Amino acid sequence: MAFLLLLPHLLASLLILLPISAVAQNNGNITVGRSLTATDNSSSWLSPSGDFAFGFRPLSDKNDIFLLSIWFAKIPDKTIVWYATGDTPAPRGSKVELTADEGLLLTSPQGEQLWKPDTVIGTVAYGVMTNTGNFALHDSNFNTRWESFRNPTDTLLPTQTMEKGGVVSSRQSETSFSKGRFQLRLQQDGNLVLNTINLPTTYANEAYYASGTVADSASNSSSPGRQLQFNESGYIYILRENDQIFPLSQKKVGSADDFYFRATLDFDGVFTLYSHPRNSSSNQSWIPLWSEPDNICLSSLVNSGSGVCGYNSICSLKADRRPACECPRGYSLLDPSDRYGSCKPDFIQGCEEDKLSSSSPTADLYDFQVLLNTDWPSSDYVLLRPSTEELCRKSCMEDCMCAVAIFRLGDSCWKKKLPLSNGRVDIGLNGGKALIKIRKDNNFTLLDPRLPIPEPKKKDQDTLIIIGSVLLGGSVFVNVILIDMDTSEEEKAILTDWAYDCYREANLDVLVEFDGQALDDRKTLERFVMVAIWCIQEDPSLRPTMRRVIQMLEGVVEVLIPPCPFPFSK
Ligand SMILES: *[C@@H]1O[C@H](CO)[C@@H](O)[C@H](O)[C@H]1NC(C)=O
Ligand SMILES: *[C@@H]1O[C@H](CO)[C@@H](O)[C@H](O)[C@H]1NC(C)=O
Ligand SMILES: *[C@@H]1O[C@H](CO)[C@@H](O)[C@H](O)[C@H]1NC(C)=O
Ligand SMILES: *[C@@H]1O[C@H](CO)[C@@H](O)[C@H](O)[C@H]1NC(C)=O
Ligand SMILES: *[C@@H]1O[C@H](CO)[C@@H](O)[C@H](O)[C@H]1NC(C)=O
Ligand SMILES: *[C@@H]1O[C@H](CO)[C@@H](O)[C@H](O)[C@H]1NC(C)=O
Ligand SMILES: *[C@@H]1O[C@H](CO)[C@@H](O)[C@H](O)[C@H]1NC(C)=O
Repeated sequence: MAFLLLLPHLLASLLILLPISAVAQNNGNITVGRSLTATDNSSSWLSPSGDFAFGFRPLSDKNDIFLLSIWFAKIPDKTIVWYATGDTPAPRGSKVELTADEGLLLTSPQGEQLWKPDTVIGTVAYGVMTNTGNFALHDSNFNTRWESFRNPTDTLLPTQTMEKGGVVSSRQSETSFSKGRFQLRLQQDGNLVLNTINLPTTYANEAYYASGTVADSASNSSSPGRQLQFNESGYIYILRENDQIFPLSQKKVGSADDFYFRATLDFDGVFTLYSHPRNSSSNQSWIPLWSEPDNICLSSLVNSGSGVCGYNSICSLKADRRPACECPRGYSLLDPSDRYGSCKPDFIQGCEEDKLSSSSPTADLYDFQVLLNTDWPSSDYVLLRPSTEELCRKSCMEDCMCAVAIFRLGDSCWKKKLPLSNGRVDIGLNGGKALIKIRKDNNFTLLDPRLPIPEPKKKDQDTLIIIGSVLLGGSVFVNVILIDMDTSEEEKAILTDWAYDCYREANLDVLVEFDGQALDDRKTLERFVMVAIWCIQEDPSLRPTMRRVIQMLEGVVEVLIPPCPFPFSK
C-alpha cells in the first residue's frame, strides 16, 4: 500500500527532472526559432562533446564588434575555424536566429539583415553542432540543407572534404577576418592550387603551389584529383578519380585521441596543418606539422599582381618558414597597420621632380641602397648587356624613370620602374645586387618631427616672408607673420604662439579675420597654416627646406600636424 502512495511523488519528480536532464544532455540539436545575441557573456551552441561551439565571439582588436563563428571550445585559444561575417562584422546586440526559410539569419540590433547562408534550399527544421566542428542545417526528413563544412572559410577540419570548385580563403590578418588575398582551390581539372587574387575581384594570379593531380593519358597514376580529403586521423590527401590517394601531409601525425587537428590557409598565404593537445590543462598551443609551399617567397611569381607581399616590398623567409615583408630603406608602409602590404617611397621621384632640382647633377640628388640577393623579377623595363656595375649605376642614376637597377651575372643590368612587384630575397641570385635609388635630401618621412630635417639653406626670415606672400595674400595671418619680421623675439613668440593656438583650436577665422576667399577652401587654408607653423619652429632643425615648403604648398606631399613652435618659451 505504501508503495502505491509513493508513486505519484515519484512521477511528479520525474516530470520535473526530465526537461532538466534533456538540457544537460546536449545533443547539439537546435530547433527553429532559437537564437543567440552578441553580448560579452552571450551563450553559444555547443557540440555534444563540448569540443566545438557556434555563436558570437568578440573581436579582440575592435570594441563592440562580434564575429558569428565556430571555434574550438575546450582549449584556451578558442581558435576560430569558421566565420560568417568577415567583411560585415556584427555590432553588439546583433542576433542570429535559426529560421525555417533562411536557415540562419543574422540581424543587427536595428533589425537590418547582415548575413544568411546563400545556398539553403527547402525548409529547415533544425540545426546541429556536431562533434567534428560542422554546423549543419537539416529539413524534417533529416536531409542536410546547408553545412559549414561545405562552405569553409580559412580552415578545414578532420572528416571535412572539398569537391572540385571548392575554395578556402585566407583572412586579411591575424585579427582581421575580412577576405584576404590567398586562396586554396581544387580546380575543375583536379589540380589543387594555391594562388593570390586581386581584390576586390576574384581574379586568380598564377599558382604558387600546384599538386599536379591532373589528367595525363600517358600514365595511370595521373588520374585527376576528385576530392580533397582530411581524414579522421589528421591526414590530408587528394583522392583521384581512380580512387588512388595522392598524399599531401606525409609526416606521421599524433593520435586523434590525444590531439585536435586543423588545416588553415594562414593570412600570410601558407597552408598549414596544425595539431593541439586535446588536454586542456596542458599549456601547449598549435604546432605546425606540415605546410605548403616550402618557400612562399620564391614559389610565387605573378604577372598582374603584387606577389606575396605588397608592392615595393621584399619577401624573406623567416626561420619558422613563414614570410616576412619589409620595405626597403627610404620606403615605408602605405598602411602602417598592414605589415604585409605595399610600401611607398618617402620621397618624390619622377622626371618633373628631377627637372625641378636641375640646378644640381642627379648624382647629388640620389644615393643607392645596395641589397644583396634581392630582386623584383617582374618589373624590368630595360636590360643592358653587356654592362658593368659602374655603367649600371650611372645609367639608373641619370634615368629619371629608374627606381631600381639589378646588377648580376657579372654583365647584366636590369632597370626597373615603380611599383615593384614580387620582391624577394633569394640566395640563388649568387650575390646579385639590387641598387635602390633613394633621394638624398628627403629620404625620410616628410616633416616627421621625430626626425632631423636638413638645415634650411636660406635665412629664416626669407622663409617666413615667402610663405606669407605665397600663402594668404592680404590676410591678417600674413600680416602677423610679416610684422614678425620687425618685432623683438619676445613679441614674435607671443604672436606665433597665438597663431598656433588658433590653429590648434581650428579657429582659423581669427587668423584670417574673415578673409572670405581663404575660408572658401578651408582645407587649403589649414594646410597653409600648418606649413607656416612648421616654418616658424623655434628649433631650426625642425624647419623644412624651401623646396619642401613649395612641395607642401602645392599639395604634392602630405603636411603633418606641426608641434608647438615655441616649446622652450612656455
Ligand atoms: C533534432 O530535432 C529535430 C526536430 O525537433 C528532430 O526531428 C530530430 O530527431 C532531432 N535530432 C536529434 C539527434 O535529436
Ligand atoms: C552579461 O553582461 C552584462 C554586461 O555586459 C551584465 O549587465 C549582465 O548582468 C550579464 N548577464 C549575465 C547573465 O551574466
Ligand atoms: C591502369 O589501370 C587499369 C585499371 O585500374 C589496370 O587494369 C591497368 O593494369 C593499369 N595500367 C598500368 C600500366 O598500371
Ligand atoms: C587516414 O589516412 C592515412 C594516410 O593515408 C591512413 O594511414 C589512415 O588509416 C587514414 N585514417 C582513416 C581513419 O581513414
Ligand atoms: C592531461 O592533463 C592531466 C593533468 O595535467 C595529466 O595528468 C594527464 O596525463 C594529461 N593527459 C594527456 C593525454 O596528456
Ligand atoms: C605556460 O607557458 C608560458 C609560456 O610558454 C609559461 O610562461 C608558463 O609558465 C606556462 N604555464 C604552465 C602552467 O606551465
Ligand atoms: C638619408 O640619406 C643620407 C645620405 O644618403 C644618410 O646619411 C641618412 O642616414 C639617410 N637618412 C635616413 C633617415 O634614412
